[in-house]
Amino acid sequence: MKIRHNVKRGNYGFLDSKDISFFESVIGKRNLLQEDLDGYNVDFLRSVCGNSQLVLKPGSVKEVSAILKYCNERKLAVCPQGGNTGLVGGSVPICDEIILSLQRINRIISIDQITGITVCESGCILENLDNKTREVGLVVPVDLGAKSSCYIGGNVSTNAGGLRVLRYGNLHGSVLGVEAVLASGQIIDLMSDFKKDNTGYHLKHLFIGSEGTLGVITKISLLCPPKSDAVHLAFLGLSSFDHVLRTFINAKRYLGEILSSCEMIDAGSLEASVSHFKLNAPIQGYPFYMLIESSGSNASHDLEKFNEFLENGMKNGEILDGTVTAELSKIQDIWKLRELVPVALVNNGYCFKYDISLPLREFYNIVNVMQDRVGDLAKCVCGYGHLGDSNLHLNISCEKFTEELYNRIEPFVFEYTCKVKGSISAEHGIGFLKRNYLKYSKSPESIKMMRSLKKFLDPNGILNPYKVLN
Ligand code: FAD
Ligand code: MLT
Ligand code: ZN
Repeated sequence: MKIRHNVKRGNYGFLDSKDISFFESVIGKRNLLQEDLDGYNVDFLRSVCGNSQLVLKPGSVKEVSAILKYCNERKLAVCPQGGNTGLVGGSVPICDEIILSLQRINRIISIDQITGITVCESGCILENLDNKTREVGLVVPVDLGAKSSCYIGGNVSTNAGGLRVLRYGNLHGSVLGVEAVLASGQIIDLMSDFKKDNTGYHLKHLFIGSEGTLGVITKISLLCPPKSDAVHLAFLGLSSFDHVLRTFINAKRYLGEILSSCEMIDAGSLEASVSHFKLNAPIQGYPFYMLIESSGSNASHDLEKFNEFLENGMKNGEILDGTVTAELSKIQDIWKLRELVPVALVNNGYCFKYDISLPLREFYNIVNVMQDRVGDLAKCVCGYGHLGDSNLHLNISCEKFTEELYNRIEPFVFEYTCKVKGSISAEHGIGFLKRNYLKYSKSPESIKMMRSLKKFLDPNGILNPYKVLN
């Protein structure tokens, strides 16, 4: 893997044998890796590659605290890492930062069936946590395609969105509290059992979405809603984006409170997952597809609403074809068509990914604009995403990275997003790849305040340097 970035190493300490001995004394020899670190140094997109010589796997908050206290005194830079599924290069080192893996801090502490409050450590794999909560009739309120690899701590640190923000809101709402370790090694207990707690500044929010730059999250208290007994999923074919929009409006109107997801994929995106993974789509041959999911408590009542919604859409010529199912295996097969789009695009060469919030009326224009702009330089320019949250994933795939294609795309895509008053990062964060573009979505005053906060909480800048702020 070639290191493409040209970052000047910060003024940090260099590891020596005394450091290694210290870390061994804290976490034990077997939890410290110095060889075969490629998987930790390279991100999912294979677009950022660091050169860390050391991975530390502490097993408790106290060990994290001891490590950070020592690193702070020695000015050793640290990159916190969860499941390493992040899409903005935030989870891997840029130079030789020590990788602090949360993998071993992974206990589920309690799941309260009555209140829905789940307390767990940050290294729990999202899917495992969700399976456990389902055993007592609850669900984790965040769901995304990387669920089998990402950690809940990574989700909270990125304020991950995913497929059900429309229903459950984002993690700033569902996370009741966190425990975090500051760069100084100080453990800060911001755990809470309550949705309502207006005692002063809401400090937990500083850590939610701060991408490992302000502290290391070690424990989380999460409000988990009840699992729905009746789930229906429709996969619909549509002829224009205007019809997609109208179908979304109708889904809200007809399905009301049972609407739990509203996703859109275009033809190029569907083609990517179908051909790469040899999947069967229930319908094909349309420029746009929608996945509309309802989650309620009464199957026949919900199906009645769903049918009314579909009949209306078909009568108006907005929905051209489709299928609706309540069968779990079919639901899972349909979701695969959507969830595997990013994996297919990345496995098929190189992929430039943009995760933007756009006003709904403007939502799809950028895909056409980019198609014209990049022409034959790209294999595929496609758009999919969380339409229900105004969040488009614009993807441009090609055989391999070229400067020419890169220069056609950036900074244009961010300027465009700024011009229509969108956000240059809807849910993936800023990480390393977008740090130079933060100014397109944040005012100079906000960036200045972010810098002050960073300086206050991490005066030596050891936590995830080169990320979020440049
Ligand atoms: P990592 O990738 O390891 O880290 C992400 C960031 O958080 C880094 O900056 C890291 O330093 C920091 N970090 C991790 N753990 C901690 C911690 N305990 N304390 C402090 N900082 C920490 N994202 C979405 O929002 N919505 C989606 O729908 C979505 N779908 C995806 C689908 C696929 C196939 C893939 C590969 C990724 C997807 N993502 C999505 C992106 C990614 O999965 C999320 O950002 C996820 O939350 C990252 O979790 P992680 O455990 O892998 O964290
Ligand atoms: C998704 O919604 O699939 C993810 O956010 C990943 C992506 O942007 O491709
Ligand atoms: Zn997404």
